[in-house]
Amino acid sequence: MAKIEGVCREVCEASEYVAIVTNGPDGPHLAGHWGNYMRIVEPGEVAVFPVGRFQRTEQNLRADDRIQLMVASRKVQGTRSPGQGCVIAGAGEVLAEGEYVDLVREKFPWARGALVVRVESVSTQL
Ligand SMILES: Cc1cc2nc3c(=O)[nH]c(=O)nc-3n(C[C@H](O)[C@H](O)[C@H](O)COP(=O)(O)O)c2cc1C
Repeated sequence: MAKIEGVCREVCEASEYVAIVTNGPDGPHLAGHWGNYMRIVEPGEVAVFPVGRFQRTEQNLRADDRIQLMVASRKVQGTRSPGQGCVIAGAGEVLAEGEYVDLVREKFPWARGALVVRVESVSTQL
């Protein structure tokens, strides 16, 4: 299993928002989240978000668990210039109970559940 570590972890910590792509019956579905709402656990192998809405994302993941996240920040140095972006791909599911839901509810008591992404690959873009 791949891990969110090194430069990609720095980008996750600095990213203002996260773009979240799943596969729906009509094609790709794009959702978003705040970067500082993402929790990286199981040292870097799992990313967890609090979920309020995300109904379509949840539906999509039930049929096809592939998910991609994009994070980016100008504050992290890229290969040639300031700014780095990372794509995190993996398998996702929305859980309504369990340790990850308890984790997100510590800070976000409104969460109906947790979007859990098990990381399979991590790549930089810049
Ligand atoms: C920057 C950003 C932050 C968001 N933060 C939250 C959030 O904290 N909780 C939430 O449930 N939705 C949040 N959303 C909204 C979801 O992305 C939105 O509800 C999206 O349509 C997912 O729902 P769907 O899967 O049903 O389309 C945020 C969106 C953006 C762009």
